[in-house]
Amino acid sequence: MRRLLLFLVIVASAAYGAAGPSTLINNIPNRTTLSLNGSWHYIVDPYETGLNGRFYRNAKPRDKQELIEYDFDKSDMLNVPGDWNTQRKELFFYEGPVWYEKSFSYHKREHTRLFVDFGAANYFTRVYLNGEALGEHEGGFTPFNFEITGKIKEGDNFLVVEVNNARRRDAVPALNTDWWNYGGLTRDVVLVEEPETYIQDYVIQLAKGSGQEISGWVQLTESTSEHQVTLEIPEARIKKTIVTSVNGYAEFHFLANLELWSPAHPKLYDVVLSSGADKVHDSIGFRTIETRGTQILLNGKPIFLRGISLHAEAPIRGGRAFSQQDAETLLGWAHELGCNFVRLTHYPHAENMTRLADRMGLLVWSEIPVYWDIDWENPATLQNAKSQLHDMIARDHNRASIILWSLSNETPVKPERTIFLRELANTARQLDSTRLITSALNHVDETAPDTRTLSDPLGEYLDVLGLNEYLGWYWGRPEDADRMQWKTAWDKPLIMSEFGGSAPYGRHGGADVRWTEEYQASIYQHHIEMLKKIPSLAGLSPWVLMDFHSPRRLLSGVQDYYNRKGVISNLGQHKQAFYVLQKYYREIEAAK
Ligand code: GCU
Repeated sequence: MRRLLLFLVIVASAAYGAAGPSTLINNIPNRTTLSLNGSWHYIVDPYETGLNGRFYRNAKPRDKQELIEYDFDKSDMLNVPGDWNTQRKELFFYEGPVWYEKSFSYHKREHTRLFVDFGAANYFTRVYLNGEALGEHEGGFTPFNFEITGKIKEGDNFLVVEVNNARRRDAVPALNTDWWNYGGLTRDVVLVEEPETYIQDYVIQLAKGSGQEISGWVQLTESTSEHQVTLEIPEARIKKTIVTSVNGYAEFHFLANLELWSPAHPKLYDVVLSSGADKVHDSIGFRTIETRGTQILLNGKPIFLRGISLHAEAPIRGGRAFSQQDAETLLGWAHELGCNFVRLTHYPHAENMTRLADRMGLLVWSEIPVYWDIDWENPATLQNAKSQLHDMIARDHNRASIILWSLSNETPVKPERTIFLRELANTARQLDSTRLITSALNHVDETAPDTRTLSDPLGEYLDVLGLNEYLGWYWGRPEDADRMQWKTAWDKPLIMSEFGGSAPYGRHGGADVRWTEEYQASIYQHHIEMLKKIPSLAGLSPWVLMDFHSPRRLLSGVQDYYNRKGVISNLGQHKQAFYVLQKYYREIEAAK
């Protein structure tokens, strides 16, 4: 009966929100754009009065009698991109609706289509232009856009955007997270100009397992006839003409002699796609990624992932990371640590992170926020998770750095959850057959006093197993790692995707004193020896690069709303554990 119910959920979810063709425009950074970043007026609206109050009209009293109970022009300003929690002290804990307003002038152009594109907005967003509804978006970490060609006016225009970061049981993530629920227009807002028929999306990557065959597709929009598309990689003397079908879609496969991308040689090619009036440049690296038994193969060779997990939290200033500087600081620290891999948790980070990882030669684990327990039997929740998965992949499917799509983190082992995630695994494979599918699991069986075995049924549907364990912090003592053995039920690569312990920078004491740097370092020292003994280990990404804000960390004088498991403090101070891990990564590199 239960299985029938769950089957019905999946069928219903497919029907529920079988989203039409994606409207996402790939590669926004290289499109013709006009930035709407900067100061926006805002009104905090805890009771969402503005919806019935029609704040989206941005109205002014027409006479002395008319009752209008809001006025954006007289309202305070917030910076966009940016969360509101760290811009206004009084909004640090605020969760709920906030109305944003931006007036701007636009000069219309012939034969030009116009879109308003949001890099991300947390969590539920309603967008209006000149008082007219454009649409809604759910999900705090993926891009979305609306076409405004027919709605934009010559000269003055105004956008009103309601952003609501209230948590909901049926949302993704749901009610409980160990990260701050930063609200707002957290990434770039731009106007995008495109020709009437333009190159909306494309994949240009090496075919699975082949170091020489480029395999991909291109999607034009608004096509009612066949179109010619030219694909060029000038540096490799490649120039191909592709003819689309009447609906603007074409697949292509051809041999190419390219330098392969890798951490040691993060080679990117300038790739140019042109069709009609449209031309798009992109920087793309070419590499293959596969598994063979318990090994992960990059370009056909085994690779060990020297990683670190991190949140999209801005170093030093705090708040949701968004800037190029934030990306350079965070990935710079990972590089300094000796990493060739980063686990971007628990949601898609900004595009500037994955593009920088491409340039720096850092391999990436990218994840959707199916985090802890969610509403597994709700078709809307499944559709929401699928949309976030779709958009994460659609934005970054040309990034060489990304090798792993992660479906979830630390979810409870129960049938409705496994069926939900199996459905996501199928969706991910349909969307991208070239990358590896994983999840961070945390349920293991004590198969002997000093042996833990990972046999979570979800493992069957994954290419790579992620395991979060906190031996020495949430259970046991650091030195217990010396005897601990880890096994898995599958002949698949294992990544120890989280382990660690907390210590505020500068707090010192014996290695057996919790909350000290010495205790944290001891967890790393003992773990490193333990990890060396795990036969199927293909990599690790300890928790976590930098201390980050969390509403669950309340120990005064120690946590103060920070998760202190960083090997670096939120102010950039390197803890002892940083150097323990750095030394290990340098040893691995030197041993190669
Ligand atoms: C979990 C979880 C993290 C969390 C960490 C912790 O494993 O995945 O999001 O922050 O543990 O407890 O510090």
